[in-house]
Amino acid sequence: MEIFIMDNAEEIGKAAGKLFVDAINKKPNIVLGLATGASPVPTYQYIYGEYQKGNVSLRDVVTYNLDEYVDLPKSDKNSYYSFMHTELFDHTDIREENVHFLDGNAADVEAECKRYDEALDRAQVDIQLLGIGRNGHIGFNEPSICFTKGAFKVKLTQSTISANSMYFNENPMPHYALTMGVGSIMKAKKIVLVATGSAKADAMAAMIHGEVTPVCPASILQFHHDVVVFMDKDAAKLL
Ligand code: F6R
Repeated sequence: MEIFIMDNAEEIGKAAGKLFVDAINKKPNIVLGLATGASPVPTYQYIYGEYQKGNVSLRDVVTYNLDEYVDLPKSDKNSYYSFMHTELFDHTDIREENVHFLDGNAADVEAECKRYDEALDRAQVDIQLLGIGRNGHIGFNEPSICFTKGAFKVKLTQSTISANSMYFNENPMPHYALTMGVGSIMKAKKIVLVATGSAKADAMAAMIHGEVTPVCPASILQFHHDVVVFMDKDAAKLL
């Protein structure tokens, strides 16, 4: 694991964003695995800032998002589909047919998860961007007794509901989501994880120094050969 401790979220956004911009310029049809939540926002701002300056094009970039809430309309402002459009896609020239999500409204969840896993296997993610939950989750792989392999429907833990319910001021937050499995995340050729704030300090310490256990799903990243971590001093305070 290559670990960078930066001053603040903006510096993380610049460093992680530059890594992505350089990778896109090197391979314009790169396949990216993308995350939602607050942590990747500065990274997305850097990427679309570079697009607006004419320094990168996302025209041929292909993306797969990590997760999506169950039974939340795609058009809801809190769907991860909406989030990605608001925070990144709508500010760039990425093509709609190149962006992929799990369908949280699918009637047949099992078939939907199988479809996504097969698509991911065909596409082969070059770089996967991750945030981390306060409880060590990656994607929505919550602490558990075993590591997951492919996509599945997950019941969100109270920790995740408490962390994310502030975004749901009109409707209650869904308690279920579809998520890529840990096995699929680990298949990415490179993984970039961003974390800010002291609420993430326990999870970062467990991920980096703890034993590899599904109780902290992010700890599995110790077994990946190419992981880059960008975190601020608060998230690093227990290292
Ligand atoms: C989101 C996701 C989650 C978040 C994590 C951290 O697609 O997969 O694992 O990365 O919950 O969220 P923030 O960045 O909001 O603290």
